[in-house]
Amino acid sequence: MRTSLVVANWKMHGRKSEVTQLLSAIKIGIKAGVAAAEKVVICPPSIFLGQVEQELAGSKIAIGAQNAHPQIKGAFTGEVAFAMLKEFSCSYVIIGHSERRELFAESDKFVTEKFLAAQEQNLIPILCVGETQTQRESGLSKAVVLEQLQAVISEAGIESFSNAVIAYEPIWAIGTGLTATPEQAQEVHATLRSFLAELNREIADNITMLYGGSVKANNAKALFDQVDIDGALVGGASLDAEEFLTICAAA
Ligand code: PGA
Repeated sequence: MRTSLVVANWKMHGRKSEVTQLLSAIKIGIKAGVAAAEKVVICPPSIFLGQVEQELAGSKIAIGAQNAHPQIKGAFTGEVAFAMLKEFSCSYVIIGHSERRELFAESDKFVTEKFLAAQEQNLIPILCVGETQTQRESGLSKAVVLEQLQAVISEAGIESFSNAVIAYEPIWAIGTGLTATPEQAQEVHATLRSFLAELNREIADNITMLYGGSVKANNAKALFDQVDIDGALVGGASLDAEEFLTICAAA
């Protein structure tokens, strides 16, 4: 089912005390019913997952992770396995974020391995796709996101998308303050959805699709008003409880 979903991607931000402060403000807001979003997910740095699990116990806010390694265990110094995320009550995991693709050279193949490994652990992958500024200027936005999506479908199969979320995140809009206009975002979301529909209409109709890239309190509503935008993946603005709750209220 399409769900209105707002996901906080804290990236590499926060200290123990800040995690507590931010979560307690968000919990108060959610408990008071400010969020129209059906689901709110917090993705902290992995090292804080235990703390977040404890502090969110009893709340309806879900927990996600930002990354994990596809192998179940082994000699992978510094890495964390998807099965470990499950032990901290994670239900979602971000896969193929552009910062992972660009800064850590993650290929479509590796992204696909992670997507499959996440699903094996019953985690819902939030698959990120998006084009660079140059690709957009060359008219390649749609081709790029479809190629990224197709790479996963080829290996994982279309059926695997009955339990996945897609996030369209144009790289030029991430952390830059340059949001895609609602029309630009909608156009790509519609392209992704109709591509899926050619393979499986039911999956296309039911998949939750998020927009990410400088989503803020003041632009969230216009983005969420678009027919194919079901929610947001929020970076910078998720570190400010008031800003984040306003986005959750708009979903
Ligand atoms: P931003 O990040 O909201 O800070 O642009 C979004 C993301 O990278 O998921």
